[in-house]
Amino acid sequence: MQSVLLAPPKPMLTLTIDGESVRVPEGFTILQALRKKGIETPTLCYLENLTPVNVCRVCVVEVVGSRVLVPSCSRKVEEGMVVLTNSERVQHSRKLVLELLASSVDMALVNEDTKRWMQEYGAEPEKFGEASAPSQEGERDARHSGHHHAPHSTTAETVAQPVKVDNDLYIRDYSKCILCYKCVEACGADAQNTFAIAVAGRGFDARISTEFAIPLTDSACVYCGNCIGVCPTNALMFKSEYDMRQAETWDETKQTVTETICPYCGVGCNLELHIQDNRIVKATSPLDRDITQGHLCIKGRFGWEFINNR
Ligand code: SF4
Ligand code: SF4
Ligand code: FES
Repeated sequence: MQSVLLAPPKPMLTLTIDGESVRVPEGFTILQALRKKGIETPTLCYLENLTPVNVCRVCVVEVVGSRVLVPSCSRKVEEGMVVLTNSERVQHSRKLVLELLASSVDMALVNEDTKRWMQEYGAEPEKFGEASAPSQEGERDARHSGHHHAPHSTTAETVAQPVKVDNDLYIRDYSKCILCYKCVEACGADAQNTFAIAVAGRGFDARISTEFAIPLTDSACVYCGNCIGVCPTNALMFKSEYDMRQAETWDETKQTVTETICPYCGVGCNLELHIQDNRIVKATSPLDRDITQGHLCIKGRFGWEFINNR
């Protein structure tokens, strides 16, 4: 008879969250422990199918004995840890992160959870003043590290800039980019291994860019669209959706989502086809399916125009 080797169960660790004892397996992050306990925690740069990069800091919690607030999405639980999620320090820090982002980035199309967090934490981005003038096309792309000029103190520095429309499949509207790195991770080692995009520049000039800021059509991009799939702000958007939004015909209340399997090859990726007015307006893939964990290739992501044109 064939023997089956099972991994030994992980030891359990006990921590205290907001005064209550919780037991979780070794290797859990604080965020996983919080979710197990049903404590909602805001996240922007974290996604289940990507390696945590700890850049947004909106998920911070207080760990007793730790000098600084810690990002719950990446910090592993330790035996006896005492975690506070609701202290004034945590609330203030989360509020400030949301305020600073919203003062410099167009958050109009962030998801509903993020809009709700803005309200719940009492974020007041307007207190930093009116937005300063947007950059001209290519201006931010040309900035060199160490040459950033301090903004005028009465206006809020902004990443506003023209939308990059350089191909028929997707657009890049970096006025909406919160620099969460998710697209870089999805294009890189977490999914596509293409490395067509990375973070260029430093400080406020940091931005997502192709090599030497060349158009996508000249870059290493293979148009898998996995970057669009993980973008939390709609900075990266299907061209079909962008065109419909520009024409004011995009209407999610009229859309249905049909789950199916991609027929293009034997991998059998799960697909969600978003339909409006009997046309496929975009294709996504659910995160929680073990075949592709939300990622697709160019065919599954964009190869549906022939149906619309039949
Ligand atoms: S479409 Fe794919 S290859 Fe192109 S930038 Fe996005 S993740 Fe990278
Ligand atoms: S383009 Fe989207 S996914 Fe990429 S860093 Fe900006 S907000 Fe994040
Ligand atoms: S969600 Fe944890 S640092 Fe961004």
